[in-house]
Amino acid sequence: MICLVGLFVYLLMQLKHFLQFNDFGREEFEYLFERSRWLKQAFKQYRQYWPLVDRTLAMIFDKNSTRTRLSFEAGMNQLGGTAIYLSTRDTQLGRGEPAEDSARVISRMVDIIMIRTHEHDLLQRFAEHSRVPVINGLTNEFHPCQIMGDIFTYKEHRGDISGRTVAWIGDVNNMCNTWLQAAEIFDFKVHVSTPPGYEIEPVQIGLTGTSHYEKFSNPHEAVRGADLVTTDVWTSMGFEAETEQRKADFAEFCVDSKMMALAKDDALFMHCLPAHRGEEVAGEVIDGHQSVVWDEAENRLHTQKALMEYLLLGKIEES
Ligand code: CP
Ligand code: NVA
Repeated sequence: MICLVGLFVYLLMQLKHFLQFNDFGREEFEYLFERSRWLKQAFKQYRQYWPLVDRTLAMIFDKNSTRTRLSFEAGMNQLGGTAIYLSTRDTQLGRGEPAEDSARVISRMVDIIMIRTHEHDLLQRFAEHSRVPVINGLTNEFHPCQIMGDIFTYKEHRGDISGRTVAWIGDVNNMCNTWLQAAEIFDFKVHVSTPPGYEIEPVQIGLTGTSHYEKFSNPHEAVRGADLVTTDVWTSMGFEAETEQRKADFAEFCVDSKMMALAKDDALFMHCLPAHRGEEVAGEVIDGHQSVVWDEAENRLHTQKALMEYLLLGKIEES
């Protein structure tokens, strides 16, 4: 009887994807953070929790990854399911099979799909033709799973991020864009400091207003009084041809201890990793006492387990 009710609820559930941070509302994130906390505790206590037995995750990678692959694969295994790694290097996706056809086929064989690729448009087209939930594991434009882990990490260390100030220093990339979307949902402010020629594009990012960010040409001014200072590589995956030019353009945008000293005394430092010490961040900062980068990396596991559980089973009343 319970199984039949569960099946009925499942069939009624609308197909949900997580392609951009603003696909979810605040209440959904608060639920996911509560589940993440519960799942993290269960994991630490070696408590078996297998709600996704017989479910399969397909992970499609068009770019390199350590954290995203590991956290999704380990996460699915820990929930009782199975994960399959597909690289565009050795599947028909890399030989020009359309995203639409691939989505139709792959989504008939698995229960949930994660994709890391270049243009967000491809992910969007894939999701439109998928029968099962699709998760953005990073595109050129957005990295929503990382920001979900980061805000959960902030919450663990400092509580609610609402009303706080996040200083973003460096490139306007997938991480910066996603922080900007998150600021509108959680009602915090982003101080964005980027070199000339690397300005944010609010319309393309899908921002609804201008009240949740402020632009600074001087990174030191952006960091002043911030609760959280964060940065990322100067050259993201796919833009390697611009590396030398970018090194010159971003030379003044290294987060070092002098810059960190301008933030609040209890400010945190975050970086999604992998990092380049001596470029976007000084070793003394990323390896220093304000850095929470290893917690961020670990929390990818717990928050994505909550995400997969939610996309496949809906809200869990109690476990
Ligand atoms: N932060 C992050 O997404 O890391 P990977 O590129 O190793 O997956
Ligand atoms: N902005 C980086 C993030 C890597 C996790 C990139 O896209 O390469």
